[in-house]
Amino acid sequence: MTLIREPDHGTPAVDAATLVSLTIDGRAVTVPEGTSVLRAASEAGISIPKLCATDSVKAFGSCRLCLVEIEGRTGTPSSCTTPVAEGMVVATQTPRLAKLRRGVMELYISDHPLDCLTCAANGNCELQDMAGAVGLREVRYGSDGANHRAAEKDTSTPYFTYDPSKCIVCSRCVRACEEVQGTFALTIEGRGFDSRVSPGAHESFLDSECVSCGACVEACPTATLTETSVIQHGQGEHAVSTTCAYCGVGCSFRAEMQGETVVRMVPEKTGGANAGHSCVKGRFAFGYATHPDRVTTPMIRESIDEPWRETTWEEAIAFAADRFTAIQAAHGPHTIGGITSSRCTNEEVFVVQKMIRAAFGTNNVDTCARVCHAPTGYGLKQTFGTSAGTQDFQSVEHADVILLIGANPTDGHPVFGSRMKQRLRAGATLIVADPRRIDLVRTPHVQAAHHLALRPGSNVALINAMAHVVMTEGLEDRAFIAERCDPDSFAEWAAFIRQPQNAPEALEGLIGVPAADIRAAARLYATGGNGAIYYGLGVTEHSQGSTMVMGLANLAMATGNIGRRGVGVNPLRGQNNVQGSCDMGSFPHEFSGYRSVTDDTVRATFEAAWGAALQTEPGLRLPNMLDAAVAGTFKGLFIQGEDIAQSDPNTRHVTAALRAMDCVVVMDLFQNETAAYAHVFLPGTSFLEKDGTFTNAERRINRVRPAMRPKTGTHEWQAVCDLATAMGHPMAYDDPSQIMDEIAALTPTFAGVSFDRLDRLGSVQWPCNDAAPEGTPIMHADGFVRGQGRFMVTDFVATEERTTRAFPLILTTGRILSQYNVGAQTRRTANVTWHAEDRLEIHPHDAEVRGIAEGDRVSLASRMGATSLRATLTERVPPGVVYTTFHHPITGANVVTTDRGDWATDCPEYKVTAVQVTLANAPADTPTAPVAAE
Ligand code: SF4
Ligand code: SF4
Ligand code: SF4
Ligand code: FES
Repeated sequence: MTLIREPDHGTPAVDAATLVSLTIDGRAVTVPEGTSVLRAASEAGISIPKLCATDSVKAFGSCRLCLVEIEGRTGTPSSCTTPVAEGMVVATQTPRLAKLRRGVMELYISDHPLDCLTCAANGNCELQDMAGAVGLREVRYGSDGANHRAAEKDTSTPYFTYDPSKCIVCSRCVRACEEVQGTFALTIEGRGFDSRVSPGAHESFLDSECVSCGACVEACPTATLTETSVIQHGQGEHAVSTTCAYCGVGCSFRAEMQGETVVRMVPEKTGGANAGHSCVKGRFAFGYATHPDRVTTPMIRESIDEPWRETTWEEAIAFAADRFTAIQAAHGPHTIGGITSSRCTNEEVFVVQKMIRAAFGTNNVDTCARVCHAPTGYGLKQTFGTSAGTQDFQSVEHADVILLIGANPTDGHPVFGSRMKQRLRAGATLIVADPRRIDLVRTPHVQAAHHLALRPGSNVALINAMAHVVMTEGLEDRAFIAERCDPDSFAEWAAFIRQPQNAPEALEGLIGVPAADIRAAARLYATGGNGAIYYGLGVTEHSQGSTMVMGLANLAMATGNIGRRGVGVNPLRGQNNVQGSCDMGSFPHEFSGYRSVTDDTVRATFEAAWGAALQTEPGLRLPNMLDAAVAGTFKGLFIQGEDIAQSDPNTRHVTAALRAMDCVVVMDLFQNETAAYAHVFLPGTSFLEKDGTFTNAERRINRVRPAMRPKTGTHEWQAVCDLATAMGHPMAYDDPSQIMDEIAALTPTFAGVSFDRLDRLGSVQWPCNDAAPEGTPIMHADGFVRGQGRFMVTDFVATEERTTRAFPLILTTGRILSQYNVGAQTRRTANVTWHAEDRLEIHPHDAEVRGIAEGDRVSLASRMGATSLRATLTERVPPGVVYTTFHHPITGANVVTTDRGDWATDCPEYKVTAVQVTLANAPADTPTAPVAAE
């Protein structure tokens, strides 16, 4: 392994059909029209010195180092700002250019601390490299003149340092913050000699708008902006390409290492999902992997009232196997089961569901997608024929109108959020449908055309009203419908949706958005060019989550917005491998590739491959397993990397179920809330130790490669195979690539996937098979996977969760940028700097009538339970709605959520809980607000 650095061609690639030929240093070069001379030269292997140019941002032309001579032109233009022209003849190395460049470098170096040997960037500094490249041998101006060497450092953020004494004012950081990240946190203040990078009107980076994405650090050619970890450890000596383990964007990184210590994470420009960008979690929040809280030794105990006893892997596996086997023998195979984790690799998930089906002898397998995107799988399968999003992320660059509903990409999917902002700044129009005023409603140089601040629980009414406008104003794409969709289902749906009860005027009171705004948004989506829908858990985590997904699919089909770049229905998946865990056969009714366990032919292929008789009927979903446990008919659960006692709704019910079981096995990194109810703790591995694949929200299968050995002494897949073997069903692989080979052999959509192919192509989007050996970026291009697109009637049925005088507010939940889900990883990093506690957002009006002031501790109570947290008064939430995150176990936000769920998939209705908010310890007669909605 070596430390590979990706080439920097100086200016961004140009996507143009017309090619231009020119000559550079006597070499014939052909590049797309609009390419800079600097990039054309670089792509041809000709290196022109540069400092202010980097290929992640547009050319700026300030350093004057990249000068060239062009035949027929006077002067020495900067090659970064000069586009190629047909027949152009360029010289990059002449005595005149060499002299000019040395002069430029002399000026830079005359105001630079000459401490290269002790500088953190030593060996990875473009200024140092350029001094060498131009042959700098002396600085005629000396170094005693006016300079910036005493300028004060900013060490306010935990992850990087700003040392202005080393700044060359190239503005790469400012441009990266604007163009790549879209935060506009930085500016160059002052003029001439006094010019300096500044975090706007703020004292420090930490006080500013900066979100610590690190794009500026990446762009900086000197040690001015440097990772704290590099300052501590020095530069890496080898690197491993892998994939972020936080969210469903699935960013590719190069982990630069010193031995088994991560020095820094560098987002890869070749990353299919992130194209060189990252967020604060992926780039910086990796410290949890080596946190002292990690459990690295297996533990067992006879009962949950006893303390844990550390043991060997052999004893822990034997203990778990004996318990599961005893339950099987005494009560039958359907009294045990397991859940897979969307935090684990495809290979780890696949072996768990295989163990449950083949060794446990039951289809009682479920996954944490049950509580997030199960309605996506169901809804898109019903309408389009496949349980996945339709586009790649790059597609957004071709969208004209973006309908963003129930998602908050700048917090939940930050790198995609930045990409979306780039497109919006370039001219696309945005419709946001969200009860809360998320950042994208208004952010620098982006303003939504419409913010439909709908009432929580009224999604289906809104999408029906929008579709009603399309269908009654003649805005549908008749040719697309006739050519691509099932006519009977369309006729039935069209008759339904045209009914007056679906008109915006009939529904505006229920939705809480004026009919005129709904009409305008519907017209814009239907007529504004390429219409792309992006959605998140604000769509799925409802009692009508599946109905809403089908409503989105109906709207996209009715307007012809499926099957090409720039359109589509795009679920923004929560966890890094939620798509993959679903693909791998984690649901009780489906094998990998979403094939029914009741299909005799499909089941026979698995039985033949696994050498086991498999159950013919679907097993229990997780909520059913928990209900059965409380009822005493379900006795044992294997839990892979999931903290259901914290993340699942109605905590009391979950813990009662866990407490009732005879054998709970938890496989995880840390002793979590669920582990308090476990009998066996099998230590898990972090992504830095894993070898396998994750599949992101765009169906992209990315490699996860080990940067260090497992701290637990074994891989998770090995431990699962050992448990299955101990239970009488032998499972063994030499290497996770063999697990992927088995997945490919048994799963038609993965038939062409192998570690070799992934290593060769970088990543592929399934389906990947003989018909699409390099994968499928855009689905349903020539026809729907199910043949014809099917419209589904989407009657609006109000949730049974109603506000009353006792519970007059609606609680909805979400995530924040710096933390991740239940916070098990991010709380063990410096990310707590930004979010040390969950706060309750409440509208000032609702706060005032309750006597609540900013920062007060309040009680949050629902019919299920109560918790307390501090209040933030904000108009981001409308009156009648309160909002919180659920990153800290102490908050216990899910103590108050109900276990009411989606009618089709049981996905919990996290987004709608009727609550009351009072000052903590307030007297019983504290005034309450009037009923907000019924
Ligand atoms: S870390 Fe990101 S948000 Fe902060 S200043 Fe740098 S580019 Fe901007
Ligand atoms: S901080 Fe770095 S990137 Fe920013 S202007 Fe200074 S040298 Fe350039
Ligand atoms: S956007 Fe998601 S996948 Fe990318 S670095 Fe951030 S957390 Fe990781
Ligand atoms: S790299 Fe072209 S002017 Fe700086």
